Amino acid sequence: MKTFRFPIAVCTLFLAATVVSAQTPAADSTLTANPVFEKNCAKCHGKTAAGRHLRGPSLVSEKITSAPEGDLRNAIANGKGHMPKFAGKLTAEEIDALVQQIKSSKSKP
Ligand code: HEC
Repeated sequence: MKTFRFPIAVCTLFLAATVVSAQTPAADSTLTANPVFEKNCAKCHGKTAAGRHLRGPSLVSEKITSAPEGDLRNAIANGKGHMPKFAGKLTAEEIDALVQQIKSSKSKP
């Protein structure tokens, strides 16, 4: 049993280090696990990104995940309706990562 604990501990440490050292999320992290999402978006779009809070719509709906990347990037950077703009708050890389993670939420049930 002990042999299984070490890799888990290493992974946990690595993840913690990634979160602390870089604001840039790991490329393979999911939208809802992205600290940038949790901090900036979850209050309106929900912890599960399924929407409902403060009129924030679901980000895992077919409509959003199949929207062109440029539209999503533009909405996040420049705002849309009641959605605030994040251009000055997040880096282009952080916005790109969010767009990629929204797009890849599609394959999930
Ligand atoms: C203050 C609440 C609020 C916050 C914070 C917020 N959103 Fe939104 N978001 C909204 C609302 C409201 C809409 C619907 C805008 C509309 O269509 O009028 C929206 C729409 C969107 C859309 C869809 C745009 C489209 O093309 O229809 C995306 C993508 C999105 N938000 C991503 C994000 C991301 C990523 C973050 C964090 C960086 C975030 N939002 C933070 C409220 C919020």
